[in-house]
Amino acid sequence: MTTEKKKVLMVCLGNICRSPIAEAVFQSSVEKMGKTNDWVVDSAAIIGYHTGNRPDERALNVLRRRGHDYKGRARPISDNDFKTFDYIFGMDKENMSDLNEMKPESSKSKLLMLGNYGLPKHENIIEDPYY
Ligand code: 4NP
Repeated sequence: MTTEKKKVLMVCLGNICRSPIAEAVFQSSVEKMGKTNDWVVDSAAIIGYHTGNRPDERALNVLRRRGHDYKGRARPISDNDFKTFDYIFGMDKENMSDLNEMKPESSKSKLLMLGNYGLPKHENIIEDPYY
């Protein structure tokens, strides 16, 4: 039996700190559950400013310390992502309002805030860590 893969996109402002870490952790959970054939995981930015860059050195340190060999490079979210991905997770309220504005009417993607899954309600915003 072939089942359609579920596609998850992690999004933050720059795609060099929060969303690459979220992508790596989600991917690693999928691998630990033996479900790599069932999920596609990627990440993207709201802004194109860091396009093509590796994650920020601080994020790379976190990834390395936790044993993730992250290979991705930053890219901005595109209209096509809103056609392709079933679930698009933002990190904070600004990401969510930007994503809601960018989402084409025809898109069936579910826009969700990552911190609403598994974090206490008063800590559900994954703040911009850059400055
Ligand atoms: P991220 O962090 O959204 O978690 O990747 C940021 C990275 C870059 C900038 C802001 C946030 N920036 O303004 O360049």
